[in-house]
Amino acid sequence: MRAQLATDFERFKARALPRDFPSHVREAYGIDLTARYLGTMIPHPIGKGSGQLSLNQGQLEVDAEAGLAFAVLKTVIAQDAAGAQSMAAWAIHEAKMKVERRGAGWTVTWKGRGWDRSFEEYLALVRVGGDLTRAGHLLVVPSVKYHLPRLDEAFKETEYAFTTRALATAWGEPLLLLEKDFSPTLAGDELAAEQAQILRWLREVPVRIRAQAAVRLAVKVMNARFDDDFQVEMVRAAATADALVVFNRLFDAARGVAYGGPELSERNLRVLARLGPGIPELSGTGAISSGRDILEYARRGCESVQLHTYFQLPQDEYAATEGSRTQRALHRLVFDPVDGLIAGMLDLEARGVLERRGGELHFLDLSADAHRPR
Ligand SMILES: Cc1cc2nc3c(=O)[nH]c(=O)nc-3n(C[C@H](O)[C@H](O)[C@H](O)COP(=O)(O)O)c2cc1C
Repeated sequence: MRAQLATDFERFKARALPRDFPSHVREAYGIDLTARYLGTMIPHPIGKGSGQLSLNQGQLEVDAEAGLAFAVLKTVIAQDAAGAQSMAAWAIHEAKMKVERRGAGWTVTWKGRGWDRSFEEYLALVRVGGDLTRAGHLLVVPSVKYHLPRLDEAFKETEYAFTTRALATAWGEPLLLLEKDFSPTLAGDELAAEQAQILRWLREVPVRIRAQAAVRLAVKVMNARFDDDFQVEMVRAAATADALVVFNRLFDAARGVAYGGPELSERNLRVLARLGPGIPELSGTGAISSGRDILEYARRGCESVQLHTYFQLPQDEYAATEGSRTQRALHRLVFDPVDGLIAGMLDLEARGVLERRGGELHFLDLSADAHRPR
């Protein structure tokens, strides 16, 4: 199998990775990469996190063609029927984005803002996403940032109502899948300086959204500027969501920017290791740049992963010379003979961590094991 892996890695370098590579992985290696996001089974665990890489139909079509498992749309800022946005500060245009090294990894330095075009344009993209999802080409999930009040304020129900219903209508049947973003920039806002306030949001926001439409809801939990204990408390507070995306980027207060890289994955993995059973489905995010990184998140309970930075690296960071950036990234993440997902799963088998069932290794067995009471 190791020899086959080396051959596959070379072979797919020079010709674009086939869209249904998970079938090949199953046949050639007896590895079932099936994963899950928001209760939906997906052929493998790798999706794209919300951001600048899912702003238009063209990007989604390239990702569908590449066989990406899912894509989360750029976060739109909620509004009421008259177009008023209490979180309007996040809806401004921010163009400059810089891919930089950070420690042993990479980060994208960027001020971190939401969708900056009209809500109607976002709804058009959601319609495209619904169609791609129903056709089985790519699971697409919209993302929203809703009003987050101070402790003594009420939630702006009108924004929750108008935005959620409009998205559900644009999406169509069946049920709308939705991510609620507690953005990394928020961690730098004075609003996020109070623990009681944050816990209230995490407890109440899912209730407010569900009151407006039938949705399956993922809450993307931010990395708050508090210690690990509080991060665990945040997860518990958000436990009524159907899924949790864990955890969005760290905040560099001195530079006023969100960042990723090794510090982010270290913190995320440390906190995830402390979670016990009884929490919602988890989707990992944060400085994932190899199949082995994916397995670290999976072994701490994540049933899928959402990458952003890795899909933005300079072209020569990928081994493949053919195919779209998404295909090149997937090629390396899955087939790298040393750090790829297949190599990592074969190693876990050799170490007795993962066992074959019905002759196959199953990706989802890793997270299932993590959820067993410790
Ligand atoms: C340029 C950029 C824009 C982003 N925009 C959003 C966003 O609008 N909403 C959101 O929930 N996350 C956003 N993120 C966070 C990513 O989806 C992802 O969760 C995070 O960057 C951690 O993954 P990574 O280390 O693979 O980049 C953004 C990240 C980057 C780098």
